[in-house]
Amino acid sequence: MKTDTAPVRLSDYRPPDYLIDTVTLDFRLSPNATRVTSLLAIRPNGDTRRPLVLAGDQLKLVSVTLDGAPLPKERYRATPDALEIADPPQRPFKLEIVTEIDPAGNSKLMGLYRSERTYCTQCEAEGFRRMTYFLDRPDVLSVYTTRIEADRTEAPVLLSNGNPIDAGSVDGTNRHYALWHDPFPKPAYLFAVVGGDLGVVTDHFKTTSGRNVELRIYCEHGKEDRCAYAMDSLKRSMRWDEVAFGREYDLDIFMIVAVSDFNMGAMENKGLNIFNDKYVLADPDTATDGDFAHVEGVIAHEYFHNWTGNRITCRDWFQLCLKEGLTVFRDQEFSSDERSRPVKRIADVRTLQARQFPEDAGPLAHPVRPEVYHEINNFYTATVYEKGSEVIRMLKSILGAKDFRAGMDLYFERHDGQAVTIEDFLACFADVSGVDLAQFKLWYSQAGTPEIVANGSYDAKARRYTLSLAQNVPATPGQSTKKPMHIPVRFGLVGPNGEDLAYDAAVGAAVTGDVIHLMEPNQTVVFSGVSAPPVPSLLRGFSAPAKLMMELPPSDLLFLLRTDTDSFNRWRAAETLAMRQLIAATTAVRMNGAPKYDDAFVDALGEIAENDALEPAFRAQALQLPGEADIAREIGNDVDPDAIAAGRNGLRAAIASRLAARLRRLHQALGSSMPFSPDAASAGRRALRNTLLDLIAGDGATEGIALAVERFRAADNMTDRMAALAVLCHNGAEARLEALDAFHRRYAGDALVIDKWFALQATTPTPDTLTRVKTLLDHPAFSIGNPNRIRSLVGSFAAANQTQFNRPDGAGYDFVADFVLDLDPKNPQTAARLLASFRSWRALEAGRRQKAEAALNRVVAAPNLSRDTRDIITRTIA
Ligand code: BES
Ligand code: ZN
Repeated sequence: MKTDTAPVRLSDYRPPDYLIDTVTLDFRLSPNATRVTSLLAIRPNGDTRRPLVLAGDQLKLVSVTLDGAPLPKERYRATPDALEIADPPQRPFKLEIVTEIDPAGNSKLMGLYRSERTYCTQCEAEGFRRMTYFLDRPDVLSVYTTRIEADRTEAPVLLSNGNPIDAGSVDGTNRHYALWHDPFPKPAYLFAVVGGDLGVVTDHFKTTSGRNVELRIYCEHGKEDRCAYAMDSLKRSMRWDEVAFGREYDLDIFMIVAVSDFNMGAMENKGLNIFNDKYVLADPDTATDGDFAHVEGVIAHEYFHNWTGNRITCRDWFQLCLKEGLTVFRDQEFSSDERSRPVKRIADVRTLQARQFPEDAGPLAHPVRPEVYHEINNFYTATVYEKGSEVIRMLKSILGAKDFRAGMDLYFERHDGQAVTIEDFLACFADVSGVDLAQFKLWYSQAGTPEIVANGSYDAKARRYTLSLAQNVPATPGQSTKKPMHIPVRFGLVGPNGEDLAYDAAVGAAVTGDVIHLMEPNQTVVFSGVSAPPVPSLLRGFSAPAKLMMELPPSDLLFLLRTDTDSFNRWRAAETLAMRQLIAATTAVRMNGAPKYDDAFVDALGEIAENDALEPAFRAQALQLPGEADIAREIGNDVDPDAIAAGRNGLRAAIASRLAARLRRLHQALGSSMPFSPDAASAGRRALRNTLLDLIAGDGATEGIALAVERFRAADNMTDRMAALAVLCHNGAEARLEALDAFHRRYAGDALVIDKWFALQATTPTPDTLTRVKTLLDHPAFSIGNPNRIRSLVGSFAAANQTQFNRPDGAGYDFVADFVLDLDPKNPQTAARLLASFRSWRALEAGRRQKAEAALNRVVAAPNLSRDTRDIITRTIA
């Protein structure tokens, strides 16, 4: 096990000493002894005269030849981690390396491994070196030709990147081969190989310029009919990228392979995307509307990487956001165009606040472009992805849509075929717009969520509205003082009749269109010619990933909730009102008092629910109260999860009782007998109806539970079935047990659905849950070898069951710590990710904090921790 911790630093970047122009690979697939022959055309990169050091990871060298002759032993040194040639030729030369690897024994799911009986690879970030010695870094781009040979019965399907150029039998054996050639130079992390007995669905796509592209989705036999939505999403993604960014697909064939054992969601290997089957397979009986939306989003994301990631790639792993943040932005835009833009924005901001804000506020905080890492796998974070996407969105807000598109066009033109940096990317936008982006660039280097304090006052006599804004970026690990950022604050001054008020002039900050450019620590903007006292609507559409602090009175928030023309801020008003009450209720519970809830707010929710002018999906979002973890994040210290849950349940009960009749009437009226369709409008209606069901059952009374039982029985699709079952589980209703059994009987054998069954039990907020979760580890459907199973059972317990993970006796922490220790030697990447649930442990009240710390200390003291887990645990307790 590699446990060295020499950090890698951005400032140490040096171009590679050698380049590899072509790679000719031969894979002889066999479960425990796969032979990999790699022929590399290498040349020195300038006059370096340095040793050639090829990276490996747990490799076994069989032979090495240089320009066709066996390399004498004294000319190289081979260890599992490196192949070093001290004095390589200072001219182009060919190196042939043969290694032998054990795919069936590869439990880390990095490099070549087996998922069920399928051979597949995962190379990003550093998995290629687990197959053969290589310059495994993203700035070494090569043209690959790959031959795969396997037993015909075991692996009739043999795939790699690029276009197929040859296939045939190996004479006198039951073996066959396929030959693939990828003409586009690429880094090793985009390489892929697949071999197996798989079903396939085919289609085709005609590009705008008239080229025909063959499309194939491979999956487990018998699951072909669950691939239709993925295929449809793929075609829509291909079209969208042509229209929105002018980007066409470039090979003759595009393939997706769905596998069941995968550490992540999916991977953008050139022409051969490999997916966690969870993000491919979807039909109404087994997938929820949320699952359909995820399939669409992930298919789009990986497809969009073809231009943002593959054609233009990263110079080094510090530039990860160059491809990930940008591609998340692109997939979010795609989904906004395909579905409802405001609803997508609300959902994305919810995710950002739930995943990235706590990261930014805790011990793992790091900039969107980190400057140092111990283990790159640990930097595929919410900050790099989600905040990285927000940075792109701000860039677009600052430049405007036209210059943004011009900058993207220039980026594609200038850097096609290159491995580049954030500086290269930003230069394109500065060049097309003339805008100085120096201050904006701080978003890439300063960690922490900026706080904006806003105050407004209206002078009726002078018809003047004065808005003062102050910004502050909190200290984060390694960054104690910060500079002021360039924050685009989208705004409106909402007048008494709900329309944005006009003004004559704004003095004190640059204002372009509806954006205030907050650039100083303090700025006061004076709007003249304002005809009436406005209610300010700030940070519209969440124009920056910041925390806005403005003490608007409840009456102003209710006004915005009812009238703001910006849907996002209508939702935000509801969220702010709810959050204030939830925090006050938590405080009351902790002081043994009785929480009080505001009837005016509850009535406003009732109005929203019934407002047919609003789309159902928006209403569903506005009616969903902040979760327990959201409340914990806002409270920020001395957190007592039991008090939070009690306060929140109190508000749910208050809503259920005050709105009972109205919610039921509406729930009834929304019932429909239309056949299931996964489109956004239908999904929105289901979301609203199921949110109403959750609210109706919020008082825990028998009537609401009975309605959920009835909905569970009557459901004709997975969305409604899961929603009803979730109400039973999350209210700890006795009836859940029978329903869970029925669900299990119906779907036993369908691993992806059983994951839902695991997750519901693991997120049930009752004291017997921990015991239940421990028992389920022995369930025949559970396997520690499969990351999806781990995430559903252990991951959702740790991340989505606030009261039971944070049991006051510390047993939840101990359980997760023990599981991490058990998993770490087998799959360090997944083990390290489970520890994220501890990232806010310092914010807990003293009793739980001590228990969490004890569990973390046990992990850090364990011998032979992987580099992944050691890195996370060390930073978490630092
Ligand atoms: N390139 C990543 C996959 C990846 C992640 C490889 C981490 C190695 C380490 C891929 O494009 C990706 O970002 N996948 C996401 C889903 C996406 C929709 C955000 C994932 O796997 O979670
Ligand atoms: Zn990605």
